[in-house]
Amino acid sequence: MDKIVIEGCRPLKGEVAISGAKNAALPLITATLLTSGWHTLHNVPDLRDTRTILALLASLGAKWERQGTTVRINSDKIENFEASYDLVKTMRASVLVLGPLLARLGRARVSLPGGCAIGARPIDLHVQALAKMGADFTLEGGYVDGSVKGRLTGSTVYFDIPTVTGTENILMAAVLAKGTTIIKNAAKEPEIGNLIDMLTAMGARIRGRDTDLLQVEGVKKLRPAEGVTIIADRIETGTYLIALGAAGGEAKITNCDPSLLPSLLEKLRVAGVEIEEGRSWIRVGRTGHLRSIDIKTMPFPGFPTDLQAQIMALMTLSRGLSVITETIFENRFMHVAELRRMGADIRVDGHSAIVNGHGRLLGAPVMATDLRASASLVVAALAAEGTTEISRVYHLDRGYEDLEGKLTRLGAVIRRVKETQ
Ligand code: UD1
Repeated sequence: MDKIVIEGCRPLKGEVAISGAKNAALPLITATLLTSGWHTLHNVPDLRDTRTILALLASLGAKWERQGTTVRINSDKIENFEASYDLVKTMRASVLVLGPLLARLGRARVSLPGGCAIGARPIDLHVQALAKMGADFTLEGGYVDGSVKGRLTGSTVYFDIPTVTGTENILMAAVLAKGTTIIKNAAKEPEIGNLIDMLTAMGARIRGRDTDLLQVEGVKKLRPAEGVTIIADRIETGTYLIALGAAGGEAKITNCDPSLLPSLLEKLRVAGVEIEEGRSWIRVGRTGHLRSIDIKTMPFPGFPTDLQAQIMALMTLSRGLSVITETIFENRFMHVAELRRMGADIRVDGHSAIVNGHGRLLGAPVMATDLRASASLVVAALAAEGTTEISRVYHLDRGYEDLEGKLTRLGAVIRRVKETQ
């Protein structure tokens, strides 16, 4: 297992280009299961998670090829309908094949994701909605096995919680269903808009983009998607913005979409980070002290839970008290113990973490526990005095393309070393 070593306390400077969004690439890749032919996707990040989803598609019978950031996928021969435990256990989003496989083959067998580091994360809402559309489910040997005779039937689906991958699964199931599907309390994350654009380009009829009320009129046949572009990764963008705020310095973040980060940009400004934005770039810098701010994670356009750990690392460097409340996942404070090893003063009280910022962190050996927790340790390490060694960095490789390269070009002193045991 590799580890990353960072020499901290060096202001960052330069330019960094943002990759395509992991959380958009995953559903867009699974949407190619809906119909045969060659699909072409642009701006697909090369990450451990995108490799996993492409391996999953290949295990179902798809062919794919990558040239740079363009991935072509052919789903002519989808004969297998099982997403095995080996693939699902490394990436919960593998559950995104459930909707497309039921729509295309009338059958899907997907290993249950099981417990994961940031909470129980069930898929009950996906299954209940697909059952309303006519699918029968059994649960056996850790697999959820769904089948439907003929086509799925359009139905009205209400989500108790606006689930992102749940909304995506039902959208993909509904586009080929008989009749109209209405999704109430749908999630509104921008990655869903990207999926709707792709499905529409394939011939789907969907109304209500960017709202919590989606209406899908099922069609009999779709065509392959040609030249759909994955949106910029707003979580990667946010991570670099926060890293700049933590380490100080000045940089331009390019290939990004500032409109996808309304809450973060405002919060950073209040915290004392200087931000200037254009259509596809953000200039970020910090010279003065950081002010403490309170954060509450919320569904989009609220503050993203996927940036909670990183903003907490930033708040340990401010002067004052900051209350960070996690409302999306019940156990998403794994990074707290690791940040404490670096000298942070953080107390967890239920769903809130109270950060007593005292302006500095000290390098230490720490362990990455999940994808975004790992990113928070990188943010902390860049600002900390001394050396930080982050182990289990395979978590980072799931969602950050060329992290060391991008940070090195910003002037960070960072290297990857092979762990001996
Ligand atoms: C997606 C993102 C993830 C992000 C999360 C919240 C992808 C691939 N992943 O995850 O990075 O952190 O949205 O923005 O896009 N829930 C249920 N039952 C269900 C489904 C969800 O109770 O059937 C609950 C979850 O436990 C959680 C909440 O709903 O408390 C929201 O989760 P959800 O939006 O489904 O997260 P994911 O789609 O898994």
